[in-house]
Amino acid sequence: MTLDRGNKLFLRAFRNEASERPPFWLMRQAGRYLPEYREVRKTAKNFLKFCYTPDLAVEVTLQPLRRYNFDAAILFCDILVIPDALGQKVEFKEGEGPVLEPIQKVEGLEQLSLKNLHGHLAPVYETVSRLSKEIPKTTTLIGFAGAPWTVATYMVEGRGGTDYSNIKSWAAERPEEFSILMDMLVEATSSYLIEQIKHGAEVVQIFDSWAGVLEGDQYEKWVIEPNKRIVDAIKAMYSDVPVIGFPKGSGELYEAFVTGTGVDGVGLDTDVDLDWAAEKLQTKCLVQGNLDNQLLVKGGQEMEDEITRILTKLGNGPFIFNLGHGIVPQTPPEHVERLAEMIHNWGK
Ligand code: CP3
Repeated sequence: MTLDRGNKLFLRAFRNEASERPPFWLMRQAGRYLPEYREVRKTAKNFLKFCYTPDLAVEVTLQPLRRYNFDAAILFCDILVIPDALGQKVEFKEGEGPVLEPIQKVEGLEQLSLKNLHGHLAPVYETVSRLSKEIPKTTTLIGFAGAPWTVATYMVEGRGGTDYSNIKSWAAERPEEFSILMDMLVEATSSYLIEQIKHGAEVVQIFDSWAGVLEGDQYEKWVIEPNKRIVDAIKAMYSDVPVIGFPKGSGELYEAFVTGTGVDGVGLDTDVDLDWAAEKLQTKCLVQGNLDNQLLVKGGQEMEDEITRILTKLGNGPFIFNLGHGIVPQTPPEHVERLAEMIHNWGK
């Protein structure tokens, strides 16, 4: 199926068409650094409920667009709605982040089911539909999901910030068992993203935030392969919808990721060297990134010099400006304003 991709700056970047400046958006552009987000956040009982309430999710997605002229809006939701929709208990604890009842044995997988996936996620699809009508005509709507490995780390470890020893040993020592979980996540994630596209998402990004935990054949099997299967499933239905991969922390494996998955764009974390990225990655697909989110907190000359350096080194090829990881809550909104101004004046 083909969609009318229009003439939006963001979508033109994937076709490597000449434009006056690169498009830009920021990971976690809706969030706690904005006082208006914190106000709305207070009205929801818990974070998941917030994600499943279209009135609230639409409102906070639009908030950053009212302040800054980002070229894209990203659906407000979270990667952990997938384990929730599959039947695992997921909670977001104040000041602690997500907490899940960990699944560490194959028997634990019996509680999971794909049966009510779309029924459970219907409010998210409604949010996407409404956003596709409400965002400005020149703005592109990004849908997203977590990659299977990253979502599985939360499902198996029960929380973020562990040493990943449970999931790493399960994956390495009992791969047939672990594949049952990963296959289920590939299927759920593919159809979740396809459904978002059906409802109006024009680009999708797959967040593999913990890709960097793996290397060698484990990286191939649990990062590259599942991402590739999701890209293939999307392309079989929507060959012209760009897919951005974000295998954070992959180091030199970024190159194998791009070649192996067939993504249209790749999100660079802050550790990726810009000259290396221009030579090894940007010759194969669009690159997105990679301002240090701590520099956005600091602001000033140091931030401005780095923005200029990134634009100079990557701005001539297919490129979308972004951070190397999501905005943190301490970020002063004025620094985002200055960044937006610099991007808009680039090349003038
Ligand atoms: O980018 C956006 O504006 C869209 C919304 C979005 C959220 N989470 C909202 C959110 C996106 C794209 C995500 C992705 C996500 N969620 C990832 C992948 C990207 C990354 O950051 O590595 C991961 C690993 C998660 C899981 C998650 N959700 C964690 C670890 C936390 C707690 C940490 C934190 O920042 O508080 C969340 C909660 C969360 N997801 C918040 C937001 C705005 C903050 C919760 C709140 O407002 O109370």
